[in-house]
Amino acid sequence: MTLAAHEQDNLLGKTRPTRESRMFNDQKMKLGIFSANCSGGIVMSDAPSGFRVTWDQQLDIARQADALGLEALVPVGRWTGFGGNTHVHAVCYETYTWAAGLAQATTDIEVFCTTHLPVIHPVVAAKMATTIDHISGGRFGMNLVMGWFTPEMELFGTKQLEHDQRYAYGQEWLDFAMRLWNEPGNFDFAGEYFNSTGAHAYPKPLQDPRPVLLNAGASPAGQRFSARNVDVNLIALPVDQIGGYVKNIKNLAHDEYERDIDVWTYCLVICRETEQEAKAAYRAIVDQGDWPGAQIVMDTLGIQSESFATQITSFKESFLTSWGGPCLVGTPEQVAEQFGELSDAGMGGAVFGFHDYVPELRYFGAEVMPLLRKYGLRH
Ligand SMILES: Cc1cc2nc3c(=O)[nH]c(=O)nc-3n(C[C@H](O)[C@H](O)[C@H](O)COP(=O)(O)O)c2cc1C
Repeated sequence: MTLAAHEQDNLLGKTRPTRESRMFNDQKMKLGIFSANCSGGIVMSDAPSGFRVTWDQQLDIARQADALGLEALVPVGRWTGFGGNTHVHAVCYETYTWAAGLAQATTDIEVFCTTHLPVIHPVVAAKMATTIDHISGGRFGMNLVMGWFTPEMELFGTKQLEHDQRYAYGQEWLDFAMRLWNEPGNFDFAGEYFNSTGAHAYPKPLQDPRPVLLNAGASPAGQRFSARNVDVNLIALPVDQIGGYVKNIKNLAHDEYERDIDVWTYCLVICRETEQEAKAAYRAIVDQGDWPGAQIVMDTLGIQSESFATQITSFKESFLTSWGGPCLVGTPEQVAEQFGELSDAGMGGAVFGFHDYVPELRYFGAEVMPLLRKYGLRH
């Protein structure tokens, strides 16, 4: 087939940049801002906060993170709130359009979307991704999610696939998108979930062969999907389980798919001048916590047990504060130390949220970032 000149330019890489994404730099502990596009962020509580999902705040957060040298902005893909008292995540920016706007407003940070594969056709997604990749100059990434919250998927009138089948579907979705991003001319795609005649997509992404990919698969099928396809697996684990988990998934990627994968955690940061103030801020979140909301999320995730009521209460508390992930609470020194513990345990990075992103990120940049450099976690 003969390709038009502008199609050839694309395939020969003439439009592709030589820069490497910050995601692949040599920082020991990579950092990203998580969940700033959704009301509540990763906190389910009525404790007072100035955080609002407004574009002014999004710009402020993104530009601060970019200037601080952080690696990533990772949003949450959410189509409905969870109910409870705070209706957490009910106010939420759509993430491809969010990423496009922030790509234009920043210069170096990797801007991600979080995309539910069951509800966006790969032809549309691949094209949107390429467009944002061009807007950002090759700084766009995708967090691939399969959908776990049934009411959210039912909003689209689609029936949830059985758990492991969601990952089989996700694999086919990504195989199709990869061909759209890389194959010249037209091709036919015949799969179990997608059939397309004369598929093609131009331009191609600037990043070769694809945008940076994240996935938070934790189940065996999810870990396998991550190991086979993505650059970073996201997971929160007790510190003593991190080493084994990281080793296993890295081995899986290396031995079965001949590729490398990194593992990052997610967490909430509550950093104040004194330990007492930080603990009081944590306590306020818990005391005014959205316990019914946490119960809904835990029920959906199937986290129930009557015989371990105490553990369940403390787990529920960690849902209120940080979606079940770790909560780094303390002075700048103590927070930096806790990042160090996660790094020592094997985490290559962390995406994190704040109760009130704009002022707390400013404080983090001024007080914690220098300590992370002092401890050799950043340079
Ligand atoms: C850091 C992180 C971010 C996530 N973001 C989203 C999201 O934005 N939307 C969503 O529906 N699920 C999200 N999830 C849930 C995952 O997609 C996935 O359902 C979960 O990690 C369980 O995976 P598993 O079914 O393989 O055990 C996220 C999970 C983690 C750990």
